[in-house]
Amino acid sequence: MKILLIGASGTLGQAVIDELGARHDIVRCGRTSGDVTVDMREASSVVAMFRKVGDVDAVVCAAGNVPFLPLAELTETRYIEGLQDKLLGQVRLVESGTRHVRDGGSFTLISGILSEQPIVAGACASMVNGAIDAFVRAAAIELPRGIRINSVSPSVLTESMESYGPFFRGFESVSAGRAAMAVSRSVEGRQTGQMYKVW
Ligand SMILES: NC(=O)c1ccc[n+]([C@@H]2O[C@H](COP(=O)([O-])OP(=O)(O)OC[C@H]3O[C@@H](n4cnc5c(N)ncnc54)[C@H](OP(=O)(O)O)[C@@H]3O)[C@@H](O)[C@H]2O)c1
Repeated sequence: MKILLIGASGTLGQAVIDELGARHDIVRCGRTSGDVTVDMREASSVVAMFRKVGDVDAVVCAAGNVPFLPLAELTETRYIEGLQDKLLGQVRLVESGTRHVRDGGSFTLISGILSEQPIVAGACASMVNGAIDAFVRAAAIELPRGIRINSVSPSVLTESMESYGPFFRGFESVSAGRAAMAVSRSVEGRQTGQMYKVW
C-alpha cells in the first residue's frame, strides 16, 4: 500500500513507520519535515499536499495540537486553536483526501484517552478527542467507494511521559509501538467506524 503519514517525524509517527514501513510504501509528511510538508490548519495547504502526493491507499494522521490550560484560562481564542488544529485539521484531511484515496482505502485519525478520562487542564483536549471519535462514527456510514475510517485513541505514551507525566498522574502509559499496532489494525484490517482504544 501507499500510505500517507502526517506527523511522520513525531513520537507516534516514528512508531507507525516502525510498524508499517517494512510492509508498505510510506509517504512521510510533517509541518516542517518529510517527503512533503503540510500545515493541516490551512485548507489550501492540505489541498496542495494531496496534489503533490497523488492517489494513496491510506491516510494516517499522527499530528494535531491542543492547548492544555486550566478551564478558567481557556478563552474562546484558545479553544479555536485546538479546534482549528487537531480537530478541523483532521477533518480537512478527510474532506480533501476522499477524492485521493483509492477504492477500499482508509483514513486513520488520532484522538486520545481524554475523550473519556478527564485530567485537569484537559478540557479542550477532551472536547477535541470526543469530536474526532464522533466524526469518525458518522463519516464511516457516508464515505464512498468502500473507503473506511477509524480513530486510534491512546493513553499517554510512555515515550512522552517526561513532558506529559505531571498531567497524567495515576494513568497507565502505553508504548507508542502499541498505539502503532492499532493503526495497523485500522489500515490493514477491514473494520470501519471504530475507535481503537489503546489503554
Ligand atoms: N504523545 C502522547 O502521549 C499522546 C497520547 C495520546 C494522543 N496523542 C496524539 O497523537 C498525536 C501525535 O502526538 P505526538 O506526541 O506523537 O506528537 P509529536 O511528537 O509532537 O509530533 C508531532 C508531529 O506532527 C507534525 N505536525 C505538527 N503540527 C502540524 C501541522 N499543523 N500540520 C501538519 N503536521 C504537523 C510534526 O511535524 P514536524 O516535525 O515536521 O514539524 C510532527 O511530525 C497528537 O494528535 C496527540 O494529541 C499523543
